[in-house]
Amino acid sequence: MRNLFLLICLCCFSCYLSARSILISTPKTSLLLSAPVDGELKFVYYGAKLSEVDVHTMGETEKSKLLAYPVYGLNCPSEAALAVKHSDGNMTLQLKVVKVDVLQQNKAELTTILLKDKVYPFYVKMCYKAYQDVDMIEIWSEISHQEKNAVVLNQFASAYLPVRRGNVWLSHLYGAWANEGRLVQEPLEPGMKVIKNKDGVRNSHTAHAEVMFSLDGQPQENAGRVIGAALCYSGNYKLRIDTDESDYHHFYAGINEDNSIYSLKKNELFRTPELALTYSDEGLSGTSRNFHRWARLHKLANGTKLRKILLNSWEGVYFGINEERMNQMMTDIASMGGELFVMDDGWFGDKYPRRTDKTSLGDWVVDKRKLPSGIEGLIDAAHQRGIKFGIWIEPEMANTRSELYEKHPDWVLKAPERELVLGRGGTQVVLDLTNPEVQDFIFHIVDNLMAKHPDINYIKWDANMSIMNHGSNYLNKEEQSDLYIAYHRGFESICQRIRLKYPDLTIQACAQGGGRANYGVLPYFDEFWVSDNTDALQRIYMQWGTSYFFPAIAMASHISAAPNHQTFRTIPLKYRIDVAMSGRLGMEIQPKDMTDEEKELCRKAIAEYKEIRPVVQLGDIYRLVSPYDKLGVASLMYTSPEKDKAVFYWWKLEHFYNQHLPRVKMAGLAPNAEYRICELNRIDKQPLDFEGKIFSGAYLMANGLELPANHLVDRNKKNDYSSRVLYLEKVK
Ligand code: DGJ
Repeated sequence: MRNLFLLICLCCFSCYLSARSILISTPKTSLLLSAPVDGELKFVYYGAKLSEVDVHTMGETEKSKLLAYPVYGLNCPSEAALAVKHSDGNMTLQLKVVKVDVLQQNKAELTTILLKDKVYPFYVKMCYKAYQDVDMIEIWSEISHQEKNAVVLNQFASAYLPVRRGNVWLSHLYGAWANEGRLVQEPLEPGMKVIKNKDGVRNSHTAHAEVMFSLDGQPQENAGRVIGAALCYSGNYKLRIDTDESDYHHFYAGINEDNSIYSLKKNELFRTPELALTYSDEGLSGTSRNFHRWARLHKLANGTKLRKILLNSWEGVYFGINEERMNQMMTDIASMGGELFVMDDGWFGDKYPRRTDKTSLGDWVVDKRKLPSGIEGLIDAAHQRGIKFGIWIEPEMANTRSELYEKHPDWVLKAPERELVLGRGGTQVVLDLTNPEVQDFIFHIVDNLMAKHPDINYIKWDANMSIMNHGSNYLNKEEQSDLYIAYHRGFESICQRIRLKYPDLTIQACAQGGGRANYGVLPYFDEFWVSDNTDALQRIYMQWGTSYFFPAIAMASHISAAPNHQTFRTIPLKYRIDVAMSGRLGMEIQPKDMTDEEKELCRKAIAEYKEIRPVVQLGDIYRLVSPYDKLGVASLMYTSPEKDKAVFYWWKLEHFYNQHLPRVKMAGLAPNAEYRICELNRIDKQPLDFEGKIFSGAYLMANGLELPANHLVDRNKKNDYSSRVLYLEKVK
């Protein structure tokens, strides 16, 4: 009998085991559930991949008491994933397993478990999508019913995961505008930890909808067991970690139901966003590598296509756009080897020309006073210089001083009987994306631009306002509490239309900086703007945190001016380059103001970035020394999947005379391989002692290299910053 069981497991091991045990596996992870027909769906295990024998024995010995999707109402003094009010006022649920289905998809296996309330015609389908080429399981629920009248959804998490107690630490991101993606690490203590967002439009300026749980005490980058979780949603979210009197930290993730109680109509399907789960026993960096691989292969638009090196006009000219300046910037970026120029805010508006942030959003016509030859003239100029052209839009918004608002005042979000609360510039408003007419209008902003100018290569899609007015002219009065959810459904449906028609267009998710770094938008966007703060030193902290969940290919990272426009810090160009080169490299500067020497340094850096671009953008990250550990340096590296190439970054964070800095051990190399070292972006008068020398991977991972704390440059060029970028190439 046991052999027969094992045989079944071997034949179709990755998923379905028996009527009772449901094993959901990826190459290196497993989720084990118990799903007896007519019984309750229980959670048994999540972590490293289970062997057949362990699954079998666990089926006999691990008697789980934990529901896989806890519901409210009967014997449930703790938190619930789902809480409803039936049409007759009954507040309880009791779900039983009806059936389990397994569907093979391209590179994934989808297990669905249908649950039905014991009494009411109320259904929940739990969906588990296990990728077969990356270690990620996406979980979501599909809620529906056939009750007479609407059922009110009071709480509707996507998924629940119990994490066994025992010195578990949480890593997550927090921040603010211009200081996004800061890392915080804390032990989980009794009580409830809530991570949430209520912006309405953007959701990652402050907290993030992604977390990591280090299971073996204080988090380590390259050792220890870690569970990672990312809620794939662009709107308001709530992550709850309830550490109660039991042996578990109870983790729930889903849409934030605050002011969003949802009335579910008969036969309507409510699909919650996916919660993506991963596990690694290679520490936080290992978990990041899982997120990054999944992102590139499955979640990010054009995730395996190398990104172009660009110049964006914002910090160079702000609203001062005109043809001459655009042409000059294009000449400059082309001469430095860049591949794309992006014209930012300020190019549009007829009756109300966009000279400041107070007017014109919604009037997406070119301002001929600024650009007499139109966009076509700029595209021609870009092509003459051998580069591509991109453009900025902020399609979800309007200004009250715009032709759009004059024509369609009913298209903006506004509470009835109330004065409009206004956003940026004192005149900005958010369009009502719940309205299909507005969705159509927004789709056509992109579609018209592309129809007229098919050679537009890149769009920067901005969003500079929260929902500050709870009210939709389109939704009826019973549906007003659906606003936040309906807005994001509208947004997603616009994005889907755009992607269907323009799959190859590069689109950046910018939202007043890093407000849209989330896996809800990334299927439709190629990258995001990490922050409006381009200060290289502060970027080290922000990009470090962001790299926990998002790959370098998606992180727009630009070389900007000194003094920096946000922090006013003066950082030497070499350091600014070395930081920007650890993400998707670009420039955000007026090149006209740069010296020839500075341009030459950028030209060299761009040429070298082209060499290392596949390793940075498609490689595996190993974070080595955290800036948050305050050891005076930060360091990370990327290795190619074949481990034949690697790029090592080292940035000094503070400067004291005769300071003792740690010697940084490398990681992720092949121990038996030999690598030649070559410094990139060198400014020192002499090469490093180990320039061109060969070391084994084992030596580099055990000892690292001794890096001089300062640069060997003429006295008048000495300063308090130093950084190094080393390129490693396998010779044997
Ligand atoms: C905010 C963005 O984050 C900036 O990069 C820039 O595009 C401005 N908006 C333009 O208004």
